[in-house]
Amino acid sequence: MAVLGIESTAHTFGAGICEKGRILANRKIMYPIWDKGLIPAKVAEFHAANTYKVIRGALTEAGLGVADISGIGYTKGPGLGPCLSVGMVAAKTIAVKNDIPLFPVNHAVGHIEVTKQAFHVKDPLVLYVSGGNSQIVALSDERFRHYMVYGETLDVGIGNMLDSFARAAGILPAWGSEVARAALGGSYIKMPYTVKGMDFTFTGLLTFATRALENNSVRDVAYSMQETAFSMLCEATERALLLSKKKDIVVCGGVAQSDRLKQMLGSISRENRANLFAATNDLNADNGAMIALVAEKMQDSGQSYAVDDCGISQRYRLDSVKITW
Ligand code: FE2
Repeated sequence: MAVLGIESTAHTFGAGICEKGRILANRKIMYPIWDKGLIPAKVAEFHAANTYKVIRGALTEAGLGVADISGIGYTKGPGLGPCLSVGMVAAKTIAVKNDIPLFPVNHAVGHIEVTKQAFHVKDPLVLYVSGGNSQIVALSDERFRHYMVYGETLDVGIGNMLDSFARAAGILPAWGSEVARAALGGSYIKMPYTVKGMDFTFTGLLTFATRALENNSVRDVAYSMQETAFSMLCEATERALLLSKKKDIVVCGGVAQSDRLKQMLGSISRENRANLFAATNDLNADNGAMIALVAEKMQDSGQSYAVDDCGISQRYRLDSVKITW
């Protein structure tokens, strides 16, 4: 029997299907951001309009019907409330109508587990970098299994910083991959660099970079901001690697699609004789397959939830999730 996963954290509405850890389908649709950023109510409206099409598309891609689904996972959080609600209601509707168990999934755990599954990595140090989050985590000991946070952003996620800068600089579409394109061939301007132990902050850097646009080229500022932010992440990750004594590093989440970040992390990995793993871009972008994968692990390890206990949590922290598999 297969498991359906529904993802609706932010700009993407996704539906994926897994069976025994294998991805059978992964369909998604993305709200067209361009230069506006995300207005939660508008994005939720977009998701609601596309719910049936995306879920039906995933079932068709997998060659399955609802009768073949043994569990339904949806993203409980963290994310934008109105968007999360659309996914939850879609999952509940199918689950209740067809008497299928429901599983509330943490979005970050989805990104981590789908990468671990892809490379059969058991116990890595994880750099999770996305729009709203930037954290360095690893599994705690065997008795109290959950992801323990070694370090994290003390203000905004790195993805949000890159998107905000793109809007200020007139880079379109306003997101990180276009900032990377704008940065090609740039020269370095000294920028604020803030790492405290294994924590870091990005708003000072964003303010400085935005002001620097007045007297410098977009290319030089984009390059300098990106190099500074990624160096901060790498320093904190290297410190956590030495402290945790892990042998593998996983980088995951939307910003893990950055070639420059992976190149810099690759240097750290080689210098410390560690292995670096990053999933393909379609799995680092938000997607339903990672939610299905975690829901299947939750189901197989004996978790169960009453429908009325299945809600959403905009600030659902990764380190509050019990890992039972
Ligand atoms: Fe994500």
